[in-house]
Amino acid sequence: MALRNIVKLGDDVLRKTCRTQLTFDERLHQILDDMAETMYHADGVGLAAPQIGILRRYCVIDVGDGLIELINPVIEKRSGEQTGDEGCLSIPGRFDPVTRPMKVTVRAQDRNGKTFTLKAEELKARALCHEIDHLDGVLFIDHVKNRENDLRKGRP
Ligand code: NI
Repeated sequence: MALRNIVKLGDDVLRKTCRTQLTFDERLHQILDDMAETMYHADGVGLAAPQIGILRRYCVIDVGDGLIELINPVIEKRSGEQTGDEGCLSIPGRFDPVTRPMKVTVRAQDRNGKTFTLKAEELKARALCHEIDHLDGVLFIDHVKNRENDLRKGRP
C-alpha cells in the first residue's frame, strides 16, 4: 500500500465526469487499498478516485463503522433532508453547510464486481452523496453557491 497525492481545488481533474470501471482486477484492488490508506492518513471520511487523479467511478468511505468500497455507485433513492457542515480533502480548511438527503439507498459493485445495495442515513448518507458527486465533477462548494444564489433570488 502507498499514500497517494490528493488533488486540490483548481486542478481540472476534479471537474471531469468519471468513466465506468469495467475491470475488477489486481490493479483496481491496489488503488482501492491506496485510497483507503490515503483517506485514513488524511483523517477523512471519504475519498473518490478523481481526488487521486483517476477518472473512474469509484470511491471509499468510512464514517467510523468500517470501510466501504463502492465501484460504479448510483443513488437509487433519497428521502428527507439534513443540513450540516461539510468539508473535502481536496479543499482543505473550508467547511460550509450543505443540504443533503437524510437517507439514501445506493447500488454499487464491490472490488470483485459483485452488485450490492446499501442503505444509509445521517453522516453516512451525506458522505455517500459527497463522494458520488465527485464522480461527476461536482464539489460541495457548488451546493453552497447554489444556496447563496437561491437566497439572492429570495427563495427560502
Ligand atoms: Ni470531497
